[in-house]
Amino acid sequence: MKRAVTYFILSATCTIGALADGLRFSHGPYLQNVTTDEATIFFTTNERTFSWVEIESEEWNTPRQYFNTEAGLVQAYRYDNAVHIKNLKPGKNYRYRLVSKEIKDFQPYKITYGDSIASEWYSFNTLTPKMQDCSFVIVNDIHDNAEKLRTLLELSSYEKADAIFYLGDMISHFDNPETPYNGFIDVSTELFAKNKPFIAVRGNHETRGNLARTYHNYIGRKQGEFYGIYYYGNTAIIVLDTGEDKPDTHPVYGGINRFDEYRKQQAEWLEKEIGSKRFRKTKNRIVLMHIPPVHTSRTATPEDHAVGHLAELFTPIFNKAKVDLVLSGHTHRHYFVEKRDGSNKFPVVINDHRSVAELSVNKEGIKIKITAADGNTIFDKQF
Ligand SMILES: [Fe+2]
Repeated sequence: MKRAVTYFILSATCTIGALADGLRFSHGPYLQNVTTDEATIFFTTNERTFSWVEIESEEWNTPRQYFNTEAGLVQAYRYDNAVHIKNLKPGKNYRYRLVSKEIKDFQPYKITYGDSIASEWYSFNTLTPKMQDCSFVIVNDIHDNAEKLRTLLELSSYEKADAIFYLGDMISHFDNPETPYNGFIDVSTELFAKNKPFIAVRGNHETRGNLARTYHNYIGRKQGEFYGIYYYGNTAIIVLDTGEDKPDTHPVYGGINRFDEYRKQQAEWLEKEIGSKRFRKTKNRIVLMHIPPVHTSRTATPEDHAVGHLAELFTPIFNKAKVDLVLSGHTHRHYFVEKRDGSNKFPVVINDHRSVAELSVNKEGIKIKITAADGNTIFDKQF
């Protein structure tokens, strides 16, 4: 009954959905960084707005409003929004909707608002801390082909998965603000991302183009970095940003890349992280990194620089951390490296650019199944 009253009051000032040729939501909503107690909701509008998210829980009497606030200012007079929702309870369902007010004119001492709109209600679940089983769908090297992404997702059990991981090179280069939406975000929103998150692991192609330095406005990150650990009960998923493939000094980068430094920063971070109580309590340890930490060909090219650097930096840390499995992309060819005593004590699976990998973790261990776009299973193994 309370919901009906709230709806009536808001509908007196807001139009649900879009106004004809007026203010509308142009991308999203899509969920990022969903954990046991938080979530971030991304969306855009076609005009500059003041926007927020309303959240409903069965435990609350009225919906709560959340704003994207930074140092005392609500982020406004912009098209893109990322609203962080904090202090949620584990294992609960939350309903949410978007609300936007157009800012017609923004003067130093007078803000003039135009139309207001509200979206329909969507929902998501926070994670349960003690979850024993989890499953993920992994796709990589899509290179702007949203229809291929759709085909691969539809071949998988993405509807049942806890999250979808995009393992890099979802786009080819970034010099148009619409590229991430057209390449993979819009189709994700359409299929699942209003209700469950995708986690975009950055590949080398996402670092290319004159807008690459704005990529963080499109996807959620852990503590402001493109790497981090995602915990699902007793499973840890380590996400690394492997950077560009060629040396930073290669002429195509024009002297403005520092990926050797970024990879070292991640090695130092991971070394500390694996000593944490949280990590030591995990049973299953999986690494997702776009460029593999193992050579897959005998011919040395400038593109092998990152592989060599990653192998040197991370092999000892992964061995020490007792990593169960490393999953990569980048080469566009399926490849499997068995674990070896004396070097990589962890297996490496490379998913190609036209297959979908399904990872499931339960008390029997970690299982990975890879299905090609034609529906054939090309890899199926229990670790
Ligand atoms: Fe790549």
